[in-house]
Amino acid sequence: MNKESAVLERYSEGANERQESLCCPVNYQVDLLKILPEEIIEKDYGCGDPSRYVREGDVVLDLGSGSGKICYMAAQLVGDNGMIIGVDMNNDMLALARKYQAEMAEKVGNDRVQFLKGKIQDLALDVDLMESWLKSNPVTSADELAALENWKLKQSQQSPLIADNSVDLVISNCVLNLVSDQEKQQLVTEIFRVTKPGGRIAISDIISDEIIPEYLKNDKQLWSGCISGAFQELEMLQMFQEAGFIAVSYDKWSETPWQVVEGIEFRSATLTAIKREQIECVDKGHTVIYSGPFSLVVDDEGHQFPRGERMAVCERTFNVLINEPYKDDFIAIEPSTEREPVPGDVPAGTRRPASETKHANYTNSDKSPGSCC
Ligand SMILES: C[S@@+](CC[C@H](N)C(=O)[O-])C[C@H]1O[C@@H](n2cnc3c(N)ncnc32)[C@H](O)[C@@H]1O
Repeated sequence: MNKESAVLERYSEGANERQESLCCPVNYQVDLLKILPEEIIEKDYGCGDPSRYVREGDVVLDLGSGSGKICYMAAQLVGDNGMIIGVDMNNDMLALARKYQAEMAEKVGNDRVQFLKGKIQDLALDVDLMESWLKSNPVTSADELAALENWKLKQSQQSPLIADNSVDLVISNCVLNLVSDQEKQQLVTEIFRVTKPGGRIAISDIISDEIIPEYLKNDKQLWSGCISGAFQELEMLQMFQEAGFIAVSYDKWSETPWQVVEGIEFRSATLTAIKREQIECVDKGHTVIYSGPFSLVVDDEGHQFPRGERMAVCERTFNVLINEPYKDDFIAIEPSTEREPVPGDVPAGTRRPASETKHANYTNSDKSPGSCC
């Protein structure tokens, strides 16, 4: 049995009967649990609470939605204009989540949650559609296999299950670790593809403090139990940053490990990041000052901000830094005068002289306008 089959089997069991060994204690926002069916709460196999990042009006994608708990919590936060999509590859989990869809639609006001069958490492492939195609096109020869591959390619390109740049917030609760190591890179690339420019991600998962040896990865119980497929803590940050996300951070980090196996600590953490707006950088005279407490910080695009220095940034970078999660760390100075815009990013480390950032034309005889200090 390969790892994916072990995962399918384990979560089919989990959909049919609560599996104590898969339950990691989580402090959910209790108000959001009140209207959830008991069975959904009971069959909770999450390890964090990414619903805390949901905003009104969001299109939310939940990767590995399981019983639908996080989707139904998020549904209470997005309001009438928001929408939640849960993706899972397991029929039993999908059936469990869909069982309560009508009841939950009535409780939240409309049917704003849908559950789709798919693999989170290939969010373009519509597995339900492929299965119905396979009913009339069974694969029994190499030619038929090639026809299936062609069909998959066409479907993924022409009507992807989740379209490019379509999701405001991608969330996941304890699922990425279940994807094989060979497919983890593709998984992160897919998350980047579907996130809207300016969109966010909040991934709660199990991470390890050390590299996990191969023999632990090959242990099907440890793998399907959300342990040995975990990202190593630094590797996870790097993969998301290399995929193109910015502001990549661990927003939550459980001090106490959930499990320790052969001295390796496995703990729950929540990674957050944003996908930069896809607009060109233009230097229009924007300036920021990093207020501290560190002597120097460098962002995910390589811009350097020594504490207290007036640093030149392009308009796009400025707009990133004046918003979450950076805004409390930077003092923002709008361009003082109209100037010729310079296309391209401002080279890292470029200072903006104070003489270029004043918002008035002072003369030597001018006094300070304020009475204090
Ligand atoms: C640990 S459970 C977490 C379920 C849910 N997120 C929660 O908070 O209770 C993992 C879920 O991810 C699904 N899953 C695992 N690997 C997957 C994959 N590659 N693609 C889609 N779903 C997957 C499983 O079927 C299962 O429902």
